[in-house]
Amino acid sequence: NLEVDFSKSVTKIQPTMYGVFFEDINFAADGGLYAEMIKNRSFEFELPFMGWNEPNSDRHKLNEKSGIAKIIQYSQKGTNHNYCRITVNDANGYELLNEGFRGMGIKKDLHYNFSLKASKESGNISKIKIQFIDKNKKVLGETSIVPTSNNWTNYTAQLVATATEAKAQIKITFEGTGVIALDMISLFPEDTWKGRKNGLRSDLVQLLYDLKPGFLRFPGGCIVEGKTLAERYQWKKSVGNIEDREFLINRWNIEFAHKPTPDYFQSFGLGFFEYFQLSEDIGASPLPILSCGMACQFNTGELVPMDQLDPYVQDALDLIEFANGDVTTAWGKLRADMGHPKSFNLKFIGVGNEQWGPDYIERFKVFQKAIKAKYPNITIVSGTGPFPEGDYFDYGMKELKKLNTEIVDEHYYKSPEWFRKNATRYDNYDRKGPKIFAGEYAAQSVEIASPLNKNNWECAFSEAAFMTGMERNAEVVHLTSYAPLLAHVEGWQWTPDMIWFNNLESYGTPNYYVQKLFANNRGTDLINITKDGKAVTGQNDLFASAVKDTNSKEVILKIVNTSSASQNVAIDLKGGKLDSKGTALILKGEGLNDENSFESPKKISPKESEFKVKGSKVQYDFPAYSVTVLKIKMK
Ligand code: AHR
Repeated sequence: NLEVDFSKSVTKIQPTMYGVFFEDINFAADGGLYAEMIKNRSFEFELPFMGWNEPNSDRHKLNEKSGIAKIIQYSQKGTNHNYCRITVNDANGYELLNEGFRGMGIKKDLHYNFSLKASKESGNISKIKIQFIDKNKKVLGETSIVPTSNNWTNYTAQLVATATEAKAQIKITFEGTGVIALDMISLFPEDTWKGRKNGLRSDLVQLLYDLKPGFLRFPGGCIVEGKTLAERYQWKKSVGNIEDREFLINRWNIEFAHKPTPDYFQSFGLGFFEYFQLSEDIGASPLPILSCGMACQFNTGELVPMDQLDPYVQDALDLIEFANGDVTTAWGKLRADMGHPKSFNLKFIGVGNEQWGPDYIERFKVFQKAIKAKYPNITIVSGTGPFPEGDYFDYGMKELKKLNTEIVDEHYYKSPEWFRKNATRYDNYDRKGPKIFAGEYAAQSVEIASPLNKNNWECAFSEAAFMTGMERNAEVVHLTSYAPLLAHVEGWQWTPDMIWFNNLESYGTPNYYVQKLFANNRGTDLINITKDGKAVTGQNDLFASAVKDTNSKEVILKIVNTSSASQNVAIDLKGGKLDSKGTALILKGEGLNDENSFESPKKISPKESEFKVKGSKVQYDFPAYSVTVLKIKMK
């Protein structure tokens, strides 16, 4: 028997309780959310022809007889270093191919916006033909551009795909002979999120939107820190004109991945303005995390000397101005010029990711002092150390408490059993200490970051059991997010991940649907749900938390049955009158190893049904291995 008392609010549930953690890992930004289809669009990768022409050919020699493509450096300074010079010798034409991000996904009848910058240098290249082709070189849509100017000029054209194809390429053919310079060759589908030109992939944003996330953390993760300080994420380089945003090698361009991704770079087409805009679009509070002057401690751990920390601190202050400052401020004006005169209403800022030890505390203090002096109402999120156990964590917590730190970011990548056993983790946390941001967590079916990890049902329901513990402790736990968020099936470095995609489709894992159930049923106030006067934390393999929603006037129970047998439970609800029927949302798999897939994307997804409420009593049969949300209207 379980007892629920909805007469009293134990504490408020924060609007930020369930959010999303975005990092450009697994092709999440370039090749994923950012809908650009051309890889290496301005020839700025370390190998400037990477992505261009056939991967196995000698790129410089392809169709050598008819012409040649050469990289020209404008300058090593500035942000745009290279362009491509095409010399066409043969009137039969010269071809340039781009392979996209593991191919290009094109959909029949959909329109695609093509653009490039060109400057005719000599001779007369009279036409540039742009075609989608499949692996047999069959044309699947085409358009053309007539270059006219000897100065750099933008040209645009639209293609319509004549077939759906996951592995298309773009072929660019030059007619006439002569020399022409090209840069910023770009291609976007027309069906981006909200129809924004050159925007984000709508199916992926839709999945995020459907979660109703309370916050969006960006841009990572380790990517914030960089392998070296020079390779850290610098938000100022990610705003302003797209073509002036300097390419940077991705932190996840790593050799030891299950498949190395030497072609993983950041174009910053999805930069800080776009992250803020995305947060607003999906109703999430923006939560940017910045470098604290320490490179990733899993890599070089390079440290900025204390007397050179100022520019890092200034970046944090300027970011707050960029997000919230009015148009009379320098950074607020840039935001307005980029199309958003209104403030982005930034409330949180994170200092460092997974950084630890005295080096972190020393730097954190400087940030804290400067940010609070100028922006006392901004809440600062700090890190504690690699993970939630061990000396680094204990040291960090102790020091951060002394500094009256507001929020501490804890990460846990652990086994499913760990998640079930740790549903009581926050029961004894100091109510007067820092609030908790469970910023990255995911059950690992094999072991941390093993390429063999699966997004299986056991992992998902074990996370749900743990989440009931976080919800029961909403007094200290203020923000939570699963990680990583997105993964391209042919471009990933890390498993498990919440949403998988290829170039055409995407699906939510069972872990996604657990997040969705909790976030969509967040409620406004925590209420007590007990068994024999105690919290339900695994007795008889049952885990439970309960909230009420004072807006929708509902009592909402979240019950996780981690037993291999169904359990029939009597629930007694005290606190007022209730409707005579309720709505159940039931999430369950067919076994511990069950998963969703492109073929069965919603195999494990919530199924809705009704149940009876007799006065204050509910009798409910919770299926084996299930996560159930029961909702009852208060009268
Ligand atoms: O989520 C993947 C990585 O795990 C993040 O970049 C990092 O913060 C953590 O170690």
